[in-house]
Amino acid sequence: MELENIYNQFSKHLVEQLKYDKVSDIVKKFVQPYKKLMSYYTCAIMEVETKFNVLSEELSMQYDRNPIESIRTRLKSPESIREKMIRKGFPLTVESIEENLNDIAGVRIICSFPSDIYALANSLLKQDDIHLIEKKDYIKHPKANGYRSLHLIIEIPIYLHDTKKMMKVEIQFRTISMDCWASLEHKIRYKKDLPQSDFIEEELVECAKMSSIIDARMENLYTMATDLVQRDPK
Ligand code: GTP
Ligand code: MG
Repeated sequence: MELENIYNQFSKHLVEQLKYDKVSDIVKKFVQPYKKLMSYYTCAIMEVETKFNVLSEELSMQYDRNPIESIRTRLKSPESIREKMIRKGFPLTVESIEENLNDIAGVRIICSFPSDIYALANSLLKQDDIHLIEKKDYIKHPKANGYRSLHLIIEIPIYLHDTKKMMKVEIQFRTISMDCWASLEHKIRYKKDLPQSDFIEEELVECAKMSSIIDARMENLYTMATDLVQRDPK
C-alpha cells in the first residue's frame, strides 16, 4: 500500500523524466532509495525526540517542573513532497529531495512558557553533534498574519551499521497558546473556497496578539508564584 502510494505519487513524472519503461526499473531506481531515505529521516526524528526526552527528564528532576507539554513528530507525506518539489521547480529525484527539502522530518515541541522555548533551543544547540542550519524567530518577529513560533533547521547524525549520515530536521517550538492559534488558523485558512476577507485576517492578527498577551501574563504569574513559594514556603 505504501509502495503503491509512493509509486503513484512519483511514477508519472519519472516515466517522462527518466525514460524508463519498466516498473521494476522505477522501483529499483526510485522507490527503494526513496523508502531508504525516508527511513533515515524517521531515525533522525527518533534521535531528536530522544534528546528532548532526556532534557525533559533532567529538567523535571532539577526544577520539579517539566517545560515540555508535548512532543509531536511527523514525516512529510509523498503527496506533500511531490507537491513542494514541483511547486519549487526542483527535479523529482531522491538526491534532489534530500538536498532541497529541509522539512521532511518535523518535530514540534510544545512548551509551557515562552522562556522555556529559548532555554530548550539553547540546550539543544549547545550539544556538539547538532549543527544549526537556519533559525527563524517568529516569536520576536511574528509573521504579518500573527503566526508565532521558533523554527530551527538542524542537522543531526544517525549512525548506520557502517557509516554516519547527517540528516536535516525542522524543529518548531511553540507555547500551548501559540500552538492553539496556529492549529485553528490553519483550519480557518484551509477552509474550502475561502474568499479573501480583510475581517478574517484582521481578527486572526488580533487573536494572535491576545495569545501573546496570555503567554506574557501566564509567565509573569508563574514567576510571581515561584518567588512567593521561595520567600514564604508553607
Ligand atoms: P514552507 O515552504 O511552507 O516550508 O515555508 P518556509 O520554508 O518559508 O518555512 P517557514 O519556516 O516559514 O514555515 C514552515 C512551517 O511553519 C509550515 O510548514 C507550518 O507548519 C508552519 N507555519 C509557517 N507559517 C505559518 C502560518 O502562518 N500559520 C500556521 N498555522 N503555520 C505556519
Ligand atoms: Mg514546511
